[in-house]
Amino acid sequence: MTTIEVLIHDLVEKHGKNRNALMPVLQGVVACEKFLSEEAMIAVARELDLSAADVYGTASFYTFLDTKPRGKNIIRVCKTISCHMQGKDAIIKAIESHLMVKVGETSPDKKFTLLSANCLGWCHKGPVMLINDEVFPSVTPEKAIEIIENFAKKTI
Ligand code: FES
Repeated sequence: MTTIEVLIHDLVEKHGKNRNALMPVLQGVVACEKFLSEEAMIAVARELDLSAADVYGTASFYTFLDTKPRGKNIIRVCKTISCHMQGKDAIIKAIESHLMVKVGETSPDKKFTLLSANCLGWCHKGPVMLINDEVFPSVTPEKAIEIIENFAKKTI
């Protein structure tokens, strides 16, 4: 068994060999590997007796289940209506020019991937930015860059 197959096997043992285990298993893989490779999705399908298409469909539906290698920190800026009206475009623009990436891309030093996300549940405090699991409500372009710089310093 490869390392990824062992990981998936353990996750399936933990969450159960049924369809309800699909999300927690995929989340467990992303937590360890940072993204879902094709190999991982096939192994999950095999372990859970599902079709690879089923697993891939679930993974691509949920933007939190990355199917591409990502940077060490994942920045997500909410693109939904409240945050849009509260200035998310300016936030994205500032981050894009600071990191020299477009949404969906990873910085050349692999420290950051910039993504947009659907509503993060903080609509009353937009615009909202998420870095990994940390929420930053009411960000301004300047504040967003300052926060990102702090993460950059902490990231080796
Ligand atoms: Fe952005 Fe809800 S619309 S958090």
